[in-house]
Amino acid sequence: MANEHIHASWSGAFAGHPSVDGQIFSDSSRPTKTYQIGIYDQATHPQRPVSPGGVVDADPTAHPVIRVQNLKKTYMLGQTPVYALQDVSLDIYPGEFVAIMGPSGSGKSTFMNLLGCLDRPTQGTYWLAGYLVSRLSNEALARVRNRLIGFVFQSFNLLSKDTALSNVELPMVYAGISREVRQRRARQALHLVGLGSRMDHKPMQLSGGQQQRVAIARSLVNSPSLLLADEPTGNLDSRTSIEIMALLQELNRQGLTIVLVTHEPDIARYTSRQVVFRDGRLLRDELNLTPRSAEDELQQLLSANPQNEY
Ligand SMILES: Nc1ncnc2c1ncn2[C@@H]1O[C@H](COP(=O)(O)OP(=O)(O)O)[C@@H](O)[C@H]1O
Ligand SMILES: [Mg+2]
Repeated sequence: MANEHIHASWSGAFAGHPSVDGQIFSDSSRPTKTYQIGIYDQATHPQRPVSPGGVVDADPTAHPVIRVQNLKKTYMLGQTPVYALQDVSLDIYPGEFVAIMGPSGSGKSTFMNLLGCLDRPTQGTYWLAGYLVSRLSNEALARVRNRLIGFVFQSFNLLSKDTALSNVELPMVYAGISREVRQRRARQALHLVGLGSRMDHKPMQLSGGQQQRVAIARSLVNSPSLLLADEPTGNLDSRTSIEIMALLQELNRQGLTIVLVTHEPDIARYTSRQVVFRDGRLLRDELNLTPRSAEDELQQLLSANPQNEY
């Protein structure tokens, strides 16, 4: 496959309200960063200090997309409590590309499930784009989640009987968008991830990397402000992993905030911030001032081995 993905053009226009119809795939769309996310109380939500060097492409005057404070999650295994997360506090700002790292069992997926509003914390507070999540009804939460968050999983989670196009349409079905608009946006999203010629293929007829691209296209169609990816390259070979990271880097460059779980340091080096968990606690939180460029590495692989097209 040709490296169509370098033409990715995600326009992360997001005006900050679930009611806004994110027409991100209109033909005239240009990357715009409108970081008016949610409503904040200035007194209780101080602005982020400007990071030294300012290499991370995040707007220092913006409000966090994610703010968690003293987050705890305790599972009960019979009578025994499992302290999966303990006192985790963290802010993530618009435009960041964050890797969540740590050994197996350290709480990464638990944290992602809370960020994705797929589960509620035992204790602590979570503001998502200015919404205090604990105050939202289940219905409001589902609406906010569908609008604000795109999900990408290790196992792609595509419907096997449906075409790529139908899979990408699905989040828009839930959002009540008309069929015509759904199909137009799904096609644009598939072009965006370099699968313009694979729309009618079913997952079985696509490679792993292509399936993950379909999943990424699906995650973008409701114009999210945040992409959550739990081990998105976990089932892919190393070269395909670099392709997926090139796509994610390009989307991030255009303004999409990404939080990605990985246990592979090689993958984390493509991101601009690394957050490390250990035993449910935040062990380290560091900026990566020199993220690797996945696109450059792909080009190098290609020039080293010209007949090996990707
Ligand atoms: N539903 C659950 N019930 C009980 N314990 C759980 C559940 N989910 C996760 N855990 C435990 O919580 C801890 C953190 O798990 P997890 O967040 O999945 O870690 P990671 O994704 O870093 O591998 C582990 O000790 C795990 O066994
Ligand atoms: Mg996990």
